[in-house]
Amino acid sequence: MSDIIECRSLCFNYGDGDSKTSVLNNLNFKVETNEKIAIVGQSGCGKSTLLNLMAGLDTPSEGEVLINNINISNLKERQRTELRAKNLGFVYQFHHLLKDFSAIYNTALPLLINDVDKNEALKKAENILKKVGLENRITHKPSELSGGERQRVAIARAMITEPACLLADEPTGNLDEKNARDVLDLIIELNNNQNTALLIVTHDLSIANKMSRRFDLTDGSLNER
Ligand SMILES: Nc1ncnc2c1ncn2[C@@H]1O[C@H](COP(=O)(O)OP(=O)(O)OP(=O)(O)O)[C@@H](O)[C@H]1O
Ligand SMILES: [Mg+2]
Repeated sequence: MSDIIECRSLCFNYGDGDSKTSVLNNLNFKVETNEKIAIVGQSGCGKSTLLNLMAGLDTPSEGEVLINNINISNLKERQRTELRAKNLGFVYQFHHLLKDFSAIYNTALPLLINDVDKNEALKKAENILKKVGLENRITHKPSELSGGERQRVAIARAMITEPACLLADEPTGNLDEKNARDVLDLIIELNNNQNTALLIVTHDLSIANKMSRRFDLTDGSLNER
């Protein structure tokens, strides 16, 4: 097994001086190939902050993040973006789909950004939308989809590059119970088929219990349960 993501002595503060909020405090953590991990913690404990740091979307106050054994702070923005696009997929609590684009274009976007041939990218997008049960919705824009369907498109978009690790921040947070269960089962199924690692941030213990490892984020660091 190899490390996909590693956090070493990670610290993160918002602001400084009197307005300083310390969120992460000397946090150490690794995600290896094929692992299914849940990070659980109360609202405001720093889960989204941690995910953003792991993805190189924010810079640590101290410590380092390695993706595929490469220290991302040593990279230029463009290289960091490439490393991220190659290795990681994201699903957010709110889908973050582009409102003017149809499901198929939203799904194909990570490939189109990476200069993959348009026809090839759309073909792949169509295939993955089939896998998530949306073959009859490919021309629908986000406003023409239900909440669960939007989240499925977001999952399809995250998985289209076959990332080594899928990072999901409360992916079922705004769905009803049945849709939440379906979306989670779908993430797990795609994860099994594509042999990716899965890191889910949640405060829902029933989701956490479906993962193979569970960590609690408290007082700025992670403890395995
Ligand atoms: N831009 C910011 N400036 C200052 N403080 C911030 C900023 N963004 C977040 N925070 C604070 O940092 C802490 C961690 O926020 P974060 O979004 O990581 O929490 P979370 O665990 O994801 O919470 P939730 O479960 O509600 O999504 C919170 O207390 C929040 O108020
Ligand atoms: Mg959050």
